Amino acid sequence: MICKTALLLLVFVATTSMASMNRQTYIVHMDKTKIAASHHSLGNSKEWYEAVIDSITDISAEEEEEEENDSESTSPQLIHVYESAISGFAAKLSTKELESLKKIDGFLSATPDEMFTLQTTRSAQFLGLQYGKGLWNASNLGSDTIIGLVDSGIWPEHVSFQDENMPPVPSRWKGACEEGTNFTKSNCNKKIIGARYFFKGYEATIGKFSKITDYKSARDSLGHGTHTASTAAGNLVDNASMFGLANGTAGGMGYMSRLAVYKVCWNNGAAAGSDIIAGIDQAIADGVDVLSLSLGSFISRPYNLDEIAISTFQAIKKGIFVSCAGGNSGPSSSSVTNTAPWIMTVAASYLDRKFATTVDLGDGQTFEGSSLYVGNETKQLPLVYGETAGGDKNTIFCAEGSLNRERVKGKIVVCDSTLIFSRFEQGEQVKLAGGAGMLLLNDEKQGEELALVAQPLPDSSLGFSKSKAIKEYLKSTKNPTASITFKGTEYGKPAPMMAAFSSRGPNAVGRDLIKPDVTAPGVNILAAWPGLIGPSSFKSDERRVLFNIASGTSMSCPHVSGIAALLKSVHNDWSPAAIKSALMTTAYVEDDKCGEIADVASSNYTAATPFAFGSGHVDPEKASDPGLIYDITPEDYLNYLCSLNYSASDIAKFAGKDFTCPQNQTMQPGDLNYPSFAVNFKRSIDNNSVTFTRTVTHVGIPNVTYEVRGTEPDGVSITVEPEILKFENPGQKLSYKITFTQRNGTVPRKTSFGYIKWSYLDKYHVRSPVAVTW
Ligand SMILES: *[C@@H]1O[C@H](CO)[C@@H](O)[C@H](O)[C@H]1NC(C)=O
Ligand SMILES: *[C@@H]1O[C@H](CO)[C@@H](O)[C@H](O)[C@H]1NC(C)=O
Ligand SMILES: *[C@@H]1O[C@H](CO)[C@@H](O)[C@H](O)[C@H]1NC(C)=O
Ligand SMILES: *[C@@H]1O[C@H](CO)[C@@H](O)[C@H](O)[C@H]1NC(C)=O
Ligand SMILES: *[C@@H]1O[C@H](CO)[C@@H](O)[C@H](O)[C@H]1NC(C)=O
Ligand SMILES: *[C@@H]1O[C@H](CO)[C@@H](O)[C@H](O)[C@H]1NC(C)=O
Ligand SMILES: *[C@@H]1O[C@H](CO)[C@@H](O)[C@H](O)[C@H]1NC(C)=O
Ligand SMILES: *[C@@H]1O[C@H](CO)[C@@H](O)[C@H](O)[C@H]1NC(C)=O
Ligand SMILES: *[C@@H]1O[C@H](CO)[C@@H](O)[C@H](O)[C@H]1NC(C)=O
Ligand SMILES: *[C@@H]1O[C@H](CO)[C@@H](O)[C@H](O)[C@H]1NC(C)=O
Ligand SMILES: *[C@@H]1O[C@H](CO)[C@@H](O)[C@H](O)[C@H]1NC(C)=O
Ligand SMILES: *[C@@H]1O[C@H](CO)[C@@H](O)[C@H](O)[C@H]1NC(C)=O
Repeated sequence: MICKTALLLLVFVATTSMASMNRQTYIVHMDKTKIAASHHSLGNSKEWYEAVIDSITDISAEEEEEEENDSESTSPQLIHVYESAISGFAAKLSTKELESLKKIDGFLSATPDEMFTLQTTRSAQFLGLQYGKGLWNASNLGSDTIIGLVDSGIWPEHVSFQDENMPPVPSRWKGACEEGTNFTKSNCNKKIIGARYFFKGYEATIGKFSKITDYKSARDSLGHGTHTASTAAGNLVDNASMFGLANGTAGGMGYMSRLAVYKVCWNNGAAAGSDIIAGIDQAIADGVDVLSLSLGSFISRPYNLDEIAISTFQAIKKGIFVSCAGGNSGPSSSSVTNTAPWIMTVAASYLDRKFATTVDLGDGQTFEGSSLYVGNETKQLPLVYGETAGGDKNTIFCAEGSLNRERVKGKIVVCDSTLIFSRFEQGEQVKLAGGAGMLLLNDEKQGEELALVAQPLPDSSLGFSKSKAIKEYLKSTKNPTASITFKGTEYGKPAPMMAAFSSRGPNAVGRDLIKPDVTAPGVNILAAWPGLIGPSSFKSDERRVLFNIASGTSMSCPHVSGIAALLKSVHNDWSPAAIKSALMTTAYVEDDKCGEIADVASSNYTAATPFAFGSGHVDPEKASDPGLIYDITPEDYLNYLCSLNYSASDIAKFAGKDFTCPQNQTMQPGDLNYPSFAVNFKRSIDNNSVTFTRTVTHVGIPNVTYEVRGTEPDGVSITVEPEILKFENPGQKLSYKITFTQRNGTVPRKTSFGYIKWSYLDKYHVRSPVAVTW
């Protein structure tokens, strides 16, 4: 689901309002403390907002619209009222109405709505979760935890969402099961305890959506939401597979947790920001414990202009853990999004599982590739590519209409993989043209990436180094041939490896934070799929599967959401920041062959850096007993925003009220009590030195002494004061200072990485990566 997920993971498309010429949807922040006395007495902000809207109605815009006989409402439309995620509303306003609104006492800001498009069997074992033990010990399993997914809805009949053996719904739950097209109250149960849908923002911008291709309800017409929900909290299902591939027991990480789905993403994969905020708003009010957002944007914006950052902060204030996809725009530098410090930003990596093929060339060379095709091997067949396959300039991509039937029929067609066409479309075109097979070749940027879709014909995907060799072979002979053999599911080292598509740091918004935070399985993940959609998601795909294999940070994010739910049920006193810290400081950076985690984006599998995997790969069982945590309160985050010099009105959007930054503010952004270190040095001086403070909370066994060790980044010396921390009782907090100094004679480079680690014997290792950037 790479291409699809690039679509399915938030893409900001600057869409101009099409439904109305005059009015545009805005997300408006209001200062609730300024609520007029008359409305205040009713304690109802909706009435205040309605009165505000009435008072700013622009008569001239109304008249114009009437002349045009616009079927839209002729006064400003209140689209959503927000109570929990932000204080304010979404409304469709003319320019004049916006100007009037700005004069209202209590107005804070208005940002134009934007369209977002949405960008496992083996996972549990790979993550070290074992049935009956540790976090999956029945007495720990959190049937009391509720995971909210803001996504494309759910296919409720799926076996992954049945509720046998689930205890009654927690009485604190305030959510609802909203009825709609092909969705009734009986579609909810003790597993799916909430189902709601939000489309008014979508319709205000795009226009009415097609009821032919989507359901006006929480039912999933894309598959994305069903897949992510089952990864977070689907039941354990034995003998799950796709065409027999990846067979085993499928199940969500928090397989006893409850699911609450908030559908915001509609048929073409698009979601309006105002609807996403409405989903988050409702999830907070309903009482979820974890929010899972497999959505992202191609653009990082400052936190004060990032509505997802603002609304998820309100979730954090309520103790809700927030996990977000980091994006599928890697391996470009600074491509990571959803980077606010309270968000767990998740990268994607490979499991130790592959779907191997052998490609035998006519000259005796043999290459290993990958495929989800299930069937017999092909014979040695002629290979065609580019000119020999059609000759059009798009033939190398096997684009629609570019292949010549005569030249392709019965042969294996070589296609260059590209972000322009989905891999499935390429396979479909080869099949339509009569091809007998396909080799799909990576370019240099895709490196050794092998994120797969189930093709309609025998195929093999090949990494860049092999692709280069195959192209040389094509040039070397007049009659190239090849065969493909399918070896099915194989397990093997090394793993994990970082996916090339996984978005990378450094963090363009907050340079003082390493982002992403962690990595989790996100390539070729098997999870639940709706009964009416083919595995490729294309209409023309008539195959039906109960489980589908897909890739993306959309897939890694719900792994972390499910694990957070497990941690929360074992440690119900931990804050979202504490859970995040536990997952980060116990993450590992070595693969299962004790080498460094490799980066598939490089053709020779060079070691990945913290800008690819953050603190490392999540390790749920270790995170359950981390020894120390770096905790952060909502007020700490506000002080951090102060240290970034955000204005009082910007900070009020996060605080939900006026917030006064400390007068004698001495906090640097790097002093936020974050479990990792991003240090920024000036190129203009050669004696850079910065000192940050951290405070750790003891959550392990009593009476322990930690010592600090680490590896200094090239050209940087690190000193920690004190170097020993002695704890007695759990809950005790101790602080340390850490100084990063440029070594004499060091020439500035781009970035240099290292780490520090607080250790108590061999029981606890509390590790923090360090990235120094000039
Ligand atoms: C306005 O549009 C509606 C339906 O689109 C139509 O039935 C009606 O006749 C139109 N009115 C005028 C005045 O054009
Ligand atoms: C399960 O957890 C309980 C309580 O924490 C503990 O007593 C028991 O030993 C655990 N069982 C296993 C198999 O880990
Ligand atoms: C409605 O959902 C049922 C599953 O309950 C499915 O079998 C049916 O095909 C769906 N109808 C439509 C029109 O999608
Ligand atoms: C497992 O699933 C496969 C295909 O889905 C089926 O052929 C097989 O009979 C199943 N095995 C068991 C033990 O249920
Ligand atoms: C998957 O299926 C194969 C062949 O039926 C079997 O040998 C293997 O044990 C299965 N793997 C799992 C994890 O169930
Ligand atoms: C695969 O080969 C076997 C044995 O040669 C044959 O019986 C079967 O029909 C073939 N399957 C397909 C899908 O061609
Ligand atoms: C790995 O590849 C990169 C470029 O892709 C190259 O700069 C580097 O020297 C290679 N390293 C090794 C060990 O071959
Ligand atoms: C904030 O403003 C202060 C005082 O002008 C300045 O020293 C500091 O560098 C600024 N911080 C950031 C992150 O811009
Ligand atoms: C900053 O001011 C607060 C009160 O506003 C005071 O408690 C604190 O000690 C002051 N800190 C410093 C470093 O002066
Ligand atoms: C760095 O050197 C400059 C002058 O060369 C000096 O003013 C400054 O104090 C030095 N800074 C540190 C951190 O040593
Ligand atoms: C920890 O040490 C303190 C003082 O040395 C002692 O009083 C206490 O009993 C110890 N606690 C445990 C659990 O060993
Ligand atoms: C760097 O050089 C200065 C004098 O130029 C010296 O005082 C300082 O100790 C040196 N630092 C290191 C880390 O060697």
